Amino acid sequence: MDTLTVELEDRSYPILIGAGLLHAPALLDRHVPGRDILLVSNTVVAPLYAEPLAARLAGRRVVEAVLPDGEPHKTLANVSRILDVLVANRFGRDCTVVALGGGVVGDMAGFAAACYQRGVAYVQVPTTLLAQVDSSVGGKTGVNHPGGKNLIGAFHQPVAVLTDTRTLDTLPPRELRAGLAEVIKYGLIRDTAFYDWLESNMERLLAREPDALGHAIRRSCEIKAEIVGRDEREQGERAVLNLGHTFGHAIESATGYSGWLHGEAVGAGLLMAAALSRECGTMRPEEVDRLRRLLERTGLPTAARDVPADAALEHMRIDKKVKAGRIRLVLLRGIGAAYVTGDYPDGALRATVQAYHG
Ligand code: NAD
Ligand code: GLY
Repeated sequence: MDTLTVELEDRSYPILIGAGLLHAPALLDRHVPGRDILLVSNTVVAPLYAEPLAARLAGRRVVEAVLPDGEPHKTLANVSRILDVLVANRFGRDCTVVALGGGVVGDMAGFAAACYQRGVAYVQVPTTLLAQVDSSVGGKTGVNHPGGKNLIGAFHQPVAVLTDTRTLDTLPPRELRAGLAEVIKYGLIRDTAFYDWLESNMERLLAREPDALGHAIRRSCEIKAEIVGRDEREQGERAVLNLGHTFGHAIESATGYSGWLHGEAVGAGLLMAAALSRECGTMRPEEVDRLRRLLERTGLPTAARDVPADAALEHMRIDKKVKAGRIRLVLLRGIGAAYVTGDYPDGALRATVQAYHG
């Protein structure tokens, strides 16, 4: 088992990564505080893992809230349902919310924990690759609004992240590929050696070789934990973690959060960010080609022809990184070096979006 730490003074917490970790009662006992536990999951993940998890919290009062599955259900209404269960069971401030599932469950359960009685403890038990490398770490919680992705939310750090890599055995291949988009993102923003390793090991990752997946999860979490530790509330550096996301969120919003998986939209967005960087003269054309090839080998989309360019540009304008009316973007100074800027030619942004959209 690997243990990493997100260093945030009195809000520091461990990320535990291991195969079969959900079958370690002592570990769960140590890292899930409180007597009253609300286990939040969804209709796909609960039948797979809720019972074994609840069984290992023997002696506690475990109540379950099982939500509908999927991104279209990442709504305030479903957070309200979680809060209703907490109230109905008279849970106090010393309760713990356990989020068992992918990023959708994690973001909603975390937001409910942030709101209930002005903040209770929560533990992330991520079961998708995307959640294991990204959404379970860093304390961003929230829901979508019909007008934009993740527009409603709060920063609220979990007290622990418990990652059982064996849960990936049941993950559909398309979801695995979506998670790999976020893994590629880490190489692109911070770590050339990791990016090279991904190029050499993509087939092993797609074949779910445990050693390869373990390394990818660990390195991704290390990079995210370092950045969050330095800039918890995204005053600066943390924004680089959104590489590809402004383009990707526009695809997701424009398609009503259905059709495209979040990771797929990020994959196409990474290539658009690289292409715009090339237009700005900060990235070499060969590096953009390298990225395109890696995304293709991963089985990720490299364009969004079903979304008209004008619709994508419109949705980009309500991104959370818009400042004084200007869309701030994460661009690249080559593989391994991301930066945030509002300084790019508008024509280059428009031309890039037009080149990758319908
Ligand atoms: P998801 O939560 O919808 O999970 C994907 C699918 O896999 C769902 O159908 C789910 O039920 C199913 N699933 C989950 N675990 C499974 C398992 N072990 N076996 C079989 N099926 C399983 O999607 P996701 O990709 O995990 O997360 C995407 C969400 O995460 C988006 O809403 C995105 O905005 C959010 N996100 C948040 C952050 C953050 O920092 N908070 C970062 C990145 C992404
Ligand atoms: N996924 C972006 C962040 O956590 O900041």
